[in-house]
Amino acid sequence: MKKTVQDIDVKAKRVIVRCDFNVPLDGDKITDDNRITAALPTINYLIDHGAKVILMSHLGRPKGEAKPEFSLAPVAKRLSELLGQEVVFKSCPKVVCDEVKALAEGLKEGQVMLLENVRYVKGETDNDLDFAKELASLADIFVNDAFGTAHRAHSSTAGIAEFLPCVSGFLIEKEVKFLGDAVENPKRPFVAILGGAKVADKITVIENLLKKVDVLLIGGGMSYTFLKAKGLEVGTSIVDEESLTLASNLLEKAEKSGVKMLIPVDSACATEFKEDADYEYCDSENMPADRMGLDIGPKTVELYKAEIAKANTVVWNGPMGVFEMDAFAKGTKEVAMALAESDCISVIGGGDSAAAASKFGLADKMTHISTGGGASLEFLEGKVLPGVAVIEDK
Ligand code: 3PG
Repeated sequence: MKKTVQDIDVKAKRVIVRCDFNVPLDGDKITDDNRITAALPTINYLIDHGAKVILMSHLGRPKGEAKPEFSLAPVAKRLSELLGQEVVFKSCPKVVCDEVKALAEGLKEGQVMLLENVRYVKGETDNDLDFAKELASLADIFVNDAFGTAHRAHSSTAGIAEFLPCVSGFLIEKEVKFLGDAVENPKRPFVAILGGAKVADKITVIENLLKKVDVLLIGGGMSYTFLKAKGLEVGTSIVDEESLTLASNLLEKAEKSGVKMLIPVDSACATEFKEDADYEYCDSENMPADRMGLDIGPKTVELYKAEIAKANTVVWNGPMGVFEMDAFAKGTKEVAMALAESDCISVIGGGDSAAAASKFGLADKMTHISTGGGASLEFLEGKVLPGVAVIEDK
């Protein structure tokens, strides 16, 4: 068990909190503030318990340069609105400068400040300890609550813990609990649904989950690598040629370990990769040579829905088709709806599947939607996340 903010006395202490405020922006408008609202329980707890709160995050990948389009200024504004109090923000190209130090020093109990994008400093992504020490010099305690960035060993997520006592915030605690319980202690039957384009990206997840699940449902672009590995014609569908042998091995492994691994029996087969492309549903045995699969078909949807209906735990990572195009969003939508209607524990990995659940207005029907894309994937791979590893044990 990891220590949380509730296990320490934060009154009148300067507490530096790593959040993941890596939110999508349209100009300076935040188009989805889920990652900000997900951090509020920890921030509000610290305010209510008289801490002096210093928040930090990255935004995008400015690669060690102070590029204004990656400034956290819009986040400071949104946070001020959500908290109902001013969030002190000083944009400093070095993130920590004399002015920022003075502001941190002068914070009163319950006040909140936000540092500029930590990736303005090149050392951040190299886990540079000098930068970590600079950040640590602002505070007495480090709270890591950035689950979305917990798979990165950076100065603000890992290195800083060398200089300060480190506990977790409520978001990391919640993410680790839901993802951990689902994978390590599932109520069976346990079904995993994996989608996405490339088998290569999901190999380690599939290998790890094959040891744990009862049923594995495959969708998305990577289905066609599995279908080709079984010797079927997949037309012009995306195929990860280098992963064909691996795909065969995984199918074999599933059979040997008694896991029911299903791949699509039909697909929406389109003439081209375009929203208004002509398409028809074809069985996997009869895919035309000049068409590409862009979504799972209705027969596959029924098969997958039947497995979801029987499940007590479902973990879902990766869309079933090109859900950004309405014509090819049906498979993903049907799977999301089946999950929403089921009484099972439904845990959705971040990234595309989380975006899909929101797009269909079903997000609040799921048990847990992770705020981490890459982080939840690495968690499902069974890896130890550096940002979680640094948190002190109870
Ligand atoms: C994410 O969006 O997955 C996290 O914020 C991590 O971002 P990164 O992939 O740029 O490290």
